[in-house]
Amino acid sequence: MSNRHEIVEKNVGLLAILIVIAISFGALVEITPLLYQEQTTESVENLRPYTALEMEGRDIYIREGCNVCHSQMIRPFRSETERYGHYSVAGESVWEHPFLWGSKRTGPDLARVGDRYSDDWHRVHLRDPRAVVPESNMPGFPWLEKNELDGKLTSKKLVLFRDTFGVPYTDEQVANAGEDVKGKTEMDAVIAYLQSLGHAMK
Ligand code: HEC
Repeated sequence: MSNRHEIVEKNVGLLAILIVIAISFGALVEITPLLYQEQTTESVENLRPYTALEMEGRDIYIREGCNVCHSQMIRPFRSETERYGHYSVAGESVWEHPFLWGSKRTGPDLARVGDRYSDDWHRVHLRDPRAVVPESNMPGFPWLEKNELDGKLTSKKLVLFRDTFGVPYTDEQVANAGEDVKGKTEMDAVIAYLQSLGHAMK
């Protein structure tokens, strides 16, 4: 027994070959599923691209670090689905770049928060969370109401998503993107984004 081990340890070439074989098993396990990704990601019928305003809202959500405290990934467990709704599926996220699934939950998961509250609730909550949830430790974001969008880059963002990631924006949506968001506040954009979350699974 110890003899056989000695053969491997004293023969560098054999050791190298065996190491490569051992590592290939790891690679196989990680790479093979990727080859079948097209089949495992079922498309979600009701999925629509973010509107121009929602797209701007998503960028502000990232800028303000909302995703540092909020996940957007409901796991397929009863404790999660009872609280948040249908668990997250891959097809919902095909146009998410970068994805905001996360795992850190200082606050609740937001994957299904769309339509759960009114726009006015969000407005008050984002300005001062403790005005509606007294025990909240979420920070307020009052400046979102003061900052207006100029829409200068909005068309470019949609074009980027269309040309790079294949998100089906129409020429009309691209052409109107700047006008659609111009003069709206960052607060309007974030609320539009929040209200869109989970729309595809309704
Ligand atoms: C420091 C962590 C933290 C950050 C950053 C944060 N939140 Fe929160 N959020 C919380 C906590 C905690 C709660 C639960 C208490 C409450 O409702 O205020 C919450 C609740 C919420 C809710 C209500 C969810 C529900 O289902 O009741 C929404 C919507 C929300 N946050 C949106 C945002 C947005 C948008 C941002 C960024 C602009 C943000 N949060 C940033 C911690 C955070």
